[in-house]
Amino acid sequence: MNKQILKDTIQQLFAGNKGLLAMDESTGTCNKRFAAAGIPQTVEMRRKYRELIVTTPGLNESIGGAILYDETIRQQTKNGMPMADVLVKAGIIPGIKVDMGAKPMAGFSNEKITEGLDGLRERLAEYKTMGARFAKWRGVITIGDGIPTTACIKANVHALSRYAALCQEAGIVPIVEPEVLMIGDHTIQRCYDVTEKVLKILFYQLYQFKIDMEGMILKPNMVIAGTESSNQNSIDEVAEATVNCLLASIPAAMPAIAFLSGGQSPEDAAVHLNAIHTKFKNHLPWIVTFSFARAIQQPALDIWKGEGANLEEAQKLLYRRAKLDSVARQGQYNTVLE
Ligand code: 13P
Repeated sequence: MNKQILKDTIQQLFAGNKGLLAMDESTGTCNKRFAAAGIPQTVEMRRKYRELIVTTPGLNESIGGAILYDETIRQQTKNGMPMADVLVKAGIIPGIKVDMGAKPMAGFSNEKITEGLDGLRERLAEYKTMGARFAKWRGVITIGDGIPTTACIKANVHALSRYAALCQEAGIVPIVEPEVLMIGDHTIQRCYDVTEKVLKILFYQLYQFKIDMEGMILKPNMVIAGTESSNQNSIDEVAEATVNCLLASIPAAMPAIAFLSGGQSPEDAAVHLNAIHTKFKNHLPWIVTFSFARAIQQPALDIWKGEGANLEEAQKLLYRRAKLDSVARQGQYNTVLE
């Protein structure tokens, strides 16, 4: 394993207060978002949308890396340039989602286990030839009555660790994403407890699997009350719970944390990231930044509607959201900027 390659990639991804853009929605998820926006769910529309994203002028001012989906990394722009090459030319490092999705876990109702380890070594080698320098694997943890079970947490962190080991062997930086879902009516304290447990079990498993701490990125959820909870917390409470939970669970040797947005509005995601920096900057031993999908893309997708005439406007919105998140990463965001 060449540890320096991993370190260099991480350093480049986040230099200049940048974050990551997740544009790795599976075909099913992308189609769901298209359907909600009234956009036809075809290969060509997905290609056009991804072209809109990767050709957004100035995106590299705030985005250091973009996570692609298998279909996208094999697609080209209308001018015949592979999407990954367009990103590289723009100064953005291409990454790739390599998990094959979260499937129902046999014997455990309402819980999921992520698949995709079989053949992963070979797939990573192929993605590397296509330009990918980092990867992503998402485990899904659901909060509910009697769940998550320890068995589900252990199965998911085991898969995450095996994935991370294969990535590091290939010289590809693993983004390790154990997402505790916001769906539910749970309190912020319950989210804290579950997230802490997941992260502690995860980091012990990563240690057992000899993962180089300095050569990986963690992509966690923020600690926040469930979407159906009547008890929503203040910005400062979310920031404090999130930082305390991370400090309690994550080794300082791990270089970077890049949050998922998880269904928060673009404004909420930015406000929370900002508060984490304004209140706790001096306590954070890691780079703390963003790896949002919906919180960056949604306004642009809603404006685009699949129409060429709206392309420029959509790109402007995408650029703007990414920029605001980069500003939040520096603790300089203000809702007035909206
Ligand atoms: P959201 O920011 O929309 O939660 O997506 C992040 C992601 O990559 C989920 O895997």
